[in-house]
Amino acid sequence: MLGVLGGSGLYEIDGIEILEEKKLITPYGEPSDSYIVARYKGKNVVFLPRHGRGHKFPPHLINYRANIWGFRKLGVRKILSISAVGGINPLLRPGDFVISNQFVDFTKVRPVTFYEGVYTIHDEEDRTDDLVNEYLKNDRVVHIDVTQPFCPVMRGTLKNVLEDMKVRFHSTGTYGATEGPRLETAAEIKALSILGADIVGMTLVPEIVLARELSMHFASLNVVTNMAAGISENRLTSDEVIQMMREKNEEIKKVVLKFIES
Ligand code: HPA
Repeated sequence: MLGVLGGSGLYEIDGIEILEEKKLITPYGEPSDSYIVARYKGKNVVFLPRHGRGHKFPPHLINYRANIWGFRKLGVRKILSISAVGGINPLLRPGDFVISNQFVDFTKVRPVTFYEGVYTIHDEEDRTDDLVNEYLKNDRVVHIDVTQPFCPVMRGTLKNVLEDMKVRFHSTGTYGATEGPRLETAAEIKALSILGADIVGMTLVPEIVLARELSMHFASLNVVTNMAAGISENRLTSDEVIQMMREKNEEIKKVVLKFIES
């Protein structure tokens, strides 16, 4: 089953039937919000707003482990992540879509793994939890391979969908992940650029890493909402990010529908 991780209200799309809203508690605590289980053209899909409805959680305080664990618990095996990013590569323009194929990680304070060596049983239910037993019971140290972090099949599907829609997009891009919630300095963006980052954002890591630890496929569709610090001549504001995501909302919903269908 497909899971869609994105903004709030993304599931409010004509033609999508909402089946149920599931509130979960995981061994890592509460996900950002309830999961919305929906159906479109015979296929089930689960939505979760990563910041919670009303944008409650800033990027560095999102409970990424609970969010990803909850998806897996509900039977999700593929995650389509949608996020706003700043553009670093000068070939990008605000409003472009980027299907990232690599990331570099500059986050600092987030729990980054499910594998912490010794698993603490949080409560008695954990002992009989299939997922806990499948992934964590042996108190393992695990180093997953992320040479190619993104799913090539899902990326191919995204590319076909965006081509069909005739919108401006880039089929590759390296995502520089920063801690936030502050935006970057001009020097940080210059450094990220030298290191090969095309876009910058605050949420991909550890989302993708955690999904991969639980054997899920992951693809990320990024919307360039602004040019990054020092590349844009203007002072950056959250308003321009929100405004651009609003403008792209209908296109994003169309991508999601076509993605579910294909
Ligand atoms: N930097 C970091 N994250 C972002 C940006 C940015 O410029 N724009 C949207 N998300």
